[in-house]
Amino acid sequence: MKKHHIDTMYTEDQVNARIEALAAQISSDYEGRTVHVICLLKGAAFFTSALTKRLTVPVTMDYMSASSYGASTKSSGVVRINKDLDEPIDDKDVLVIEDIIDSGRTLGYILGLLGDREPKSLRLCVLLDKPDRRVVEVPVDYTGFEIPDEFVVGCGMDYAQLYRNLPYIGIVKFDEE
Ligand code: IMP
Ligand code: MG
Repeated sequence: MKKHHIDTMYTEDQVNARIEALAAQISSDYEGRTVHVICLLKGAAFFTSALTKRLTVPVTMDYMSASSYGASTKSSGVVRINKDLDEPIDDKDVLVIEDIIDSGRTLGYILGLLGDREPKSLRLCVLLDKPDRRVVEVPVDYTGFEIPDEFVVGCGMDYAQLYRNLPYIGIVKFDEE
């Protein structure tokens, strides 16, 4: 592993405040309905629990795991489903939760797949968005933070499977740079 250190991008307090505001917005948008949350493993696990525990509408949950083939810090667009949903979604108001959208290839594929199952509604919530990097157009309904093209970790996001547990969002800085 290349020698590196982590700089703080958003503190734990900043992240929590933003999640609080997102949860208030989502609770108000889904008033009178049940939100069926789909958490995309593994990265979205932390964000999903932080967000859903602050929702005031009824919540049901399911989990999906997908990975894109290719280099560790870039996605190739070829997506493999490692674990599909347990439940059908055709009668549900689905809210997909993901840690970060980068090229949009992974979410573009997954939203297409879920859309084909004809849920009552389908929305997307991401903690982080790197809009400069988009290759596939994906409509994002709820965004925590828009960030520049930096490799970030923490709040569920990893670098070589490390740092998912950091309670803040950090930038990976390579020391020889
Ligand atoms: P996309 O298909 O290029 O949008 O890639 C999205 C996936 O790549 C995310 O779900 C993450 O797993 C991973 N990813 C993209 N950027 C970062 C980052 O800065 N840190 C950690 N993981 C990232
Ligand atoms: Mg991911």
